[in-house]
Amino acid sequence: MTIEKTLSIVKPDAVDRNLIGAIYQRFENADLKIVAAKMIHMNAEKAQGFYAEHEGKPFFADLVEFMTSGPVMVQVLEGESSITRYRELMGKTNPEDAACGTIRSDFALSLRHNSVHGSDSPESAAREVAYFFADDEIFPRS
Ligand code: PPS
Repeated sequence: MTIEKTLSIVKPDAVDRNLIGAIYQRFENADLKIVAAKMIHMNAEKAQGFYAEHEGKPFFADLVEFMTSGPVMVQVLEGESSITRYRELMGKTNPEDAACGTIRSDFALSLRHNSVHGSDSPESAAREVAYFFADDEIFPRS
């Protein structure tokens, strides 16, 4: 059994539509434990640093503008194979392609306003968790 941590963000479109609780319920139903959480409003520098791997892509400026347009909830999810399982729970990036019952299929509005972020690999998860949380802000439960 591999217990992993992954970084999750509830994006501005979902926070704005009062969906934090509904999305957190999906995490808990899937036995993904919330072991750290905070609400923040990123500035451009913070968002650019987080998405640095996408710098130069056509959507980069749009993505940064959206992610700085309002507050987000950032959390660390812990559980068995949490990186892969959380990405399955989110569904594909574009909600039009996301499977029924996934978070993006049920809540996302568009490719840009797609409600949630999740780390895509163990390396990304380690970097992303450390980007937002100090070790003493994380409370492992496994
Ligand atoms: S890539 O190039 O395949 O690695 O990109 P992808 O994984 O599809 O998307 C990376 C993040 O960029 C967001 N994205 C966009 N935002 C705004 N506009 C457009 N057109 C767009 N296309 C992709 C996408 O939601 C991903 O954000 P995160 O937070 O990682 O889910």
